[in-house]
Amino acid sequence: MKIAVLGAGNMGSALLGGILKAGVVTAGDVRATTRTDARAAELRERLGVEVTAGGNVAAAEGADMVVLAVKPGTVPKVVKEIRDVLEERQILISLAAALPISVIEDAAACRMPVFRAMPNIPVVVEEGAIGICHNAIATAAHREQVETIFRATGVTAFVDEEQMDAVTALSGSGPAYIYMVIEAMMAAGVKMGLSREVSLRLSEQTVLGAAKHARESKLHPAILRDQVITPGGTTIAAIHELERHGLRSMLISAIETATVHAGKRTNALLLEIERQKHS
Ligand SMILES: NC(=O)c1ccc[n+]([C@@H]2O[C@H](COP(=O)([O-])OP(=O)(O)OC[C@H]3O[C@@H](n4cnc5c(N)ncnc54)[C@H](OP(=O)(O)O)[C@@H]3O)[C@@H](O)[C@H]2O)c1
Repeated sequence: MKIAVLGAGNMGSALLGGILKAGVVTAGDVRATTRTDARAAELRERLGVEVTAGGNVAAAEGADMVVLAVKPGTVPKVVKEIRDVLEERQILISLAAALPISVIEDAAACRMPVFRAMPNIPVVVEEGAIGICHNAIATAAHREQVETIFRATGVTAFVDEEQMDAVTALSGSGPAYIYMVIEAMMAAGVKMGLSREVSLRLSEQTVLGAAKHARESKLHPAILRDQVITPGGTTIAAIHELERHGLRSMLISAIETATVHAGKRTNALLLEIERQKHS
């Protein structure tokens, strides 16, 4: 499988690093692009793949998969740039937040499978959560190919495109909520007299271990929580405080607000793209 990654910045290079490490493709099967020479040279050195500044057309030509990893507002311009070399057999994948598939289809003007993925930042340690949707042309075989790529950087979930705003709010932004939880737990440990180092190490591992246990046990989190509680013990005393301050309700509201905000970002992006068309 030959892959072109157009705009190998933070997310594009994290995806590339993951698929190379997992052996999904070899370095010789990858072509990547950036805007600047400096970034291209840095990536060539770090990943050992062919990277050019510009050169999107040459990179996309003949590839089996073309990944669009430039900023959302730049995607239509890049797709129009490569339009003449796009083929129906290729798979086009956009990582751009908030950008609807229909905008990419319009710019591509080619009857081809188009996927939209929302990865989150833990893809850099191959523990990402990646929501994926696609257009009606994509088949089960295309889905399998795309999933193979993203599985190299984390866990995947297919959703309808209307649900991508919720994915953005839940797992796209989610790491920020969890970093806040780690930060607060660390501060609490320090307040109770633990060293910063011990407090941070125990907080990080508690989040990591609880997530791993939840995934591997396949039990509802409420059951797992109940298993930690001893009647009259310390955990239920802490949980009472968390309930008093509305921890669960706060997270539900935060993700609901972020979902609405993601929808507004799509509208703003569509207006910006329209403006670009007429300028
Ligand atoms: N970062 C995240 O956590 C995250 C999460 C989900 C989705 N995404 C999506 O991933 C995409 C990239 O985000 P990012 O954070 O990785 O941004 P980024 O680090 O700024 O990467 C964008 C890359 O695009 C390159 N570029 C710009 N114009 C180009 C052009 N015309 N042709 C080829 N390359 C070009 C830039 O090159 P230079 O470096 O040389 O300027 C840069 O390397 C966005 O659409 C974003 O919505 C990001």
